[in-house]
Amino acid sequence: MLHLQSTTSDRWLQQVDSALPDILIDHAHCEKKAAGTALNLIFAYVEDVELCREMTLIVNEELEHFHMVLKLLEKRGIRFRRLKPSSYGRRLNDLVRTGEPHRAVDRLLVAGLIEARSCERFHVLAEYVNDPELAEFYHSLFESEARHHTTYTRLARHFANDEEVMARLDGGRNTGAGRRFCPDA
Ligand SMILES: [Fe+2]
Ligand SMILES: [Fe+2]
Repeated sequence: MLHLQSTTSDRWLQQVDSALPDILIDHAHCEKKAAGTALNLIFAYVEDVELCREMTLIVNEELEHFHMVLKLLEKRGIRFRRLKPSSYGRRLNDLVRTGEPHRAVDRLLVAGLIEARSCERFHVLAEYVNDPELAEFYHSLFESEARHHTTYTRLARHFANDEEVMARLDGGRNTGAGRRFCPDA
């Protein structure tokens, strides 16, 4: 259960072939940002031992994914470069409430929704791309991003009861439309 309000549109998929280098660069940024998000949560909630333990696993996995995408870019002769940030992450982060424990709940749920969108997008990309290496790559990442989503929504329950977490998740869902692989890059 990914708690997403929408699925990736056909329109988004139709631009994949012509925009593949940008999508791969964007994907690399997403993995880097995912590692940063998990590391920031360690700094913010250092008293929560389970959260810290889970975040170290996610930091390591996301950095490993980042490394894998960088290798793929290099192999395909695509130069990794900065991209202008999209507004997706900012718009989601604007929903984060101030004051604890609400802030913790929202930060974890926003991180979880971004993981969910990545997961959904890997699934559709694995089915869509006509490139066995890429299809296998996306397929291999799908499972870990789904697990990260589950981890974040579970950890949000350290800061609010189940009912509050589910209500917040249903109220703060985001479609994540956009041209990029991951609208958060
Ligand atoms: Fe990842
Ligand atoms: Fe992830």
